[in-house]
Amino acid sequence: MKTTVEKIKSMKGKEKIVMITGYDYFTSKMEDEAGIDIILIGDSLGMVVLGYENTLSVTMEDMLRHTAAVVRGAKKAFIVADMPVGTFDNNEDAALNAEALMKVGADAVKIENKPEIAEFLVGNNIPVMGHVGLTPQTKEFKVQGKDEESANEIMQLAKQCEKAGCFSVVLEGIPRDLAKKITESTSIPTIGIGAGPDCDGQVLVSNDMLGLYDKLSPKFAKRYADLGIEMKKAFQNYIKEVKEKKFPEDKHSFH
Ligand code: KIV
Repeated sequence: MKTTVEKIKSMKGKEKIVMITGYDYFTSKMEDEAGIDIILIGDSLGMVVLGYENTLSVTMEDMLRHTAAVVRGAKKAFIVADMPVGTFDNNEDAALNAEALMKVGADAVKIENKPEIAEFLVGNNIPVMGHVGLTPQTKEFKVQGKDEESANEIMQLAKQCEKAGCFSVVLEGIPRDLAKKITESTSIPTIGIGAGPDCDGQVLVSNDMLGLYDKLSPKFAKRYADLGIEMKKAFQNYIKEVKEKKFPEDKHSFH
């Protein structure tokens, strides 16, 4: 059965929510078959798949193509598509772009900060996941909310996301204690990344956990496999066999 907004909300405090990024058909098929709750087409796409330095070059065209590919691979997981920077600066743009992502099969969109835009989208029947803390579209890659003032700001933003009707909120790159406090004082599920173990759920960038990205390796990104190394070995083996005339063999030929 397809995972729904109601199911995600009902998991708070009962069962950890597991989210992972996905960008293509086959990876999302594997994630879905493994039983992942939510697949996020994150704008991390720009860095880990498209090779940009940050997420700022990602366009709506990129997001639509990759969201559609993920949707073709995943049957059960809930699908959330990130809205790229500059695509939700006002209500009209936000609605237009969010609707386009829903049209290619997203079940919800994620936006960084901007609870007032989230409220407008929710009012127009578009489920929204909030995202606060280290929000890469506007903040540098370092832990946020370490002093009292910025911690209060992040807490307030999370509460505003809840009030705006977001069905969940990502807490990225903030101290464990702050994430715990936000989780305990909001009624919507919190999904952490670099925010400690006390959130209602966890998200990782798939390429980080699979060893398929080598430019950054943040402390919180536990590596579950080293597929990059396996890929290089396979390519080296292929090169060697072709050069040495060991591949293709007769069994790979048509007669
Ligand atoms: O773009 C992304 O992958 C994200 C996650 C890190 C939450 O926003």
